[in-house]
Amino acid sequence: MAQDLKRRAGDDDRVTRTQEMLYELTVGEVMSDNVVTVHPDQTMSEIRILMRDNRISGAPVVENGKLVGMISIEDLINALLEKRIDVPIREGMTTDVDCLYSDESLVHCIAKFYRLGHTRYPVLNRKGELEGIITKGNIVEGLLRKLEIEYEQTETKVSAARQRPAMRKFFEDVFADEISFTFKYNIVGQTLQHAGTAASELKNALKKLGVCPPLLRRIGVAVYEAEINLASYTQGGEIRATIEKWGVSVEVLDSGPGILDVEQALQPGYSTAPDWVRELGFGAGMGLVNIKKCSDEMDFTSSVPEGTHLTMRFYFTS
Ligand SMILES: Nc1ncnc2c1ncn2[C@@H]1O[C@H](COP(=O)(O)OP(=O)(O)OP(=O)(O)O)[C@@H](O)[C@H]1O
Ligand SMILES: [Mg+2]
Repeated sequence: MAQDLKRRAGDDDRVTRTQEMLYELTVGEVMSDNVVTVHPDQTMSEIRILMRDNRISGAPVVENGKLVGMISIEDLINALLEKRIDVPIREGMTTDVDCLYSDESLVHCIAKFYRLGHTRYPVLNRKGELEGIITKGNIVEGLLRKLEIEYEQTETKVSAARQRPAMRKFFEDVFADEISFTFKYNIVGQTLQHAGTAASELKNALKKLGVCPPLLRRIGVAVYEAEINLASYTQGGEIRATIEKWGVSVEVLDSGPGILDVEQALQPGYSTAPDWVRELGFGAGMGLVNIKKCSDEMDFTSSVPEGTHLTMRFYFTS
């Protein structure tokens, strides 16, 4: 029956494996930690030689272990034009630096690349210490590395799936008795500390039950976005996923404050994300759009101040 599920679900490219990986990989996993740093008292002419010798076009400026600025080839050119080549770089560096955190997911890192337009970002840990640097090249390399590892593992996975009669039996029972199977997750509001845990636990559970990868991807992305919204905007809530005869239904309920204009919330790009949410890379106003794209059916209702109710359905036979 599990095989049957896989066949019936067919190929679905709404969420590709690569997109799914962007949610799984963190900045720390793909960044380069072999980073050339400079001190603010070094001069522009020293930096010119350092950039040339290391073939780099920018470097983080670090003082007493803390990031104090970034120096780029553009800053160097400006200094050359102004004939200020022997001044310390603290006078010509950029001090208002946009950074990324090593535990942020790649999906938010990419959003920052597009939104802010820089070519490289220093990567910090949550204590504010410099851990590495990331460019678009690092992201591509990281994705390719992971794809390669998974490709090598495919053979072993296929033979393991064949040895899973217990799972097939489970689905036969579900279908024969029309019973349903529910997973519940409580989500804490007003903190993104555990954000993403429920989505990844649910995905693992469904994977073990033999749900096919394209469907798993869609469910994983949609539940992740819903979980982040609960954690960001509400007083907390619950995610309930039920395996039914026809597919997986997911209910997301929260206890307020609710949404005044639901149609507006569903518009691409609309966001009321506060600063503490934006700092973590969220707030592009694309979460609900993604949920709609990933699910086969979506129902979104809300009342103020009671709360919001999102229902998503994912069919085995889409
Ligand atoms: N459960 C909820 N309770 C209250 N408001 C919500 C809830 N879910 C979404 N919203 C509101 O809808 C807006 C749009 O949500 P959506 O998930 O599409 O984008 P976002 O969270 O702002 O950004 P992104 O998801 O791209 O990081 C939010 O900014 C918020 O105002
Ligand atoms: Mg969101």
